[in-house]
Amino acid sequence: MAALDRKSAPPPWEEQVKAAIKRRYAKLAGEGAAAPDDGGARARLLSAGYSVDWLDTVPPGAVNAYSGCGFALHDLDLSNVRIAVDLGCGAGLDVRWLAENIGGRRSVVLALDLTPAMVRRARETCAGADGAAVLAIAADMEHVALPDGLADLVTANAALNLALDKARALGEAFRVLRPGGRLIARDLVLDGELPPEVAQDPMSWNTSLGGVLEETDLAAALTGAGFTDVDISDHRPFSYVQSVRVQARKPD
Ligand SMILES: C[S@@+](CC[C@H](N)C(=O)[O-])C[C@H]1O[C@@H](n2cnc3c(N)ncnc32)[C@H](O)[C@@H]1O
Repeated sequence: MAALDRKSAPPPWEEQVKAAIKRRYAKLAGEGAAAPDDGGARARLLSAGYSVDWLDTVPPGAVNAYSGCGFALHDLDLSNVRIAVDLGCGAGLDVRWLAENIGGRRSVVLALDLTPAMVRRARETCAGADGAAVLAIAADMEHVALPDGLADLVTANAALNLALDKARALGEAFRVLRPGGRLIARDLVLDGELPPEVAQDPMSWNTSLGGVLEETDLAAALTGAGFTDVDISDHRPFSYVQSVRVQARKPD
């Protein structure tokens, strides 16, 4: 009887939300493959800061299935990055950019995503990229099976806001960075109150909005994880919230 009760109990909230996230992004990964580029996705990427010349070189599926909230990787010296980790890599547009712009063939980009269909899409996006090796893995950014101090750079684009436990996800980002390593992200912060229908929807996590923090809380979470030199800049309107560039460093 006890076993029957356990079987009929609904899965915990965290599992339900993560299952919903996977369903949503699996659908997007599929649509990205199927849809011809009507120009809309490309226009969004141009206004997000990706360069037109570079976008011409990437597979159309990567553009169509992009679900980031801007370009965070400009104006950085990445020449000494040997190992980069991208959390919540989605269709892998930033992964491809990193592979082509970090320290060349002796480098590697580890691309992690909860949704296996997105991991497969990221592999397709990066096939043929000239530069670092890419290893795309299905993994949860709140439980990263990588050793301490491995990475020179951790990136995340519209992904940290989806972490159900921000302290845990940021703690993992901090742990896998080497001393002096950097976190560079594009993420979302609140811009006033969310509309009630979004704020009160328990599943709004999977639309990226339910997990969005106040900017001060995001900064505190970064500091709480151990990061220094926290900088949150380049605020841009994004849906009901704002997209920001986040930079932080693990102390030497
Ligand atoms: C808004 S999309 C952004 C994707 C990609 N970074 C981009 O710029 O297109 C968020 C991605 O994070 C992934 N994700 C959500 N929760 C995650 C978690 N706990 N661990 C790893 N990936 C997660 C989703 O599957 C989805 O592909």
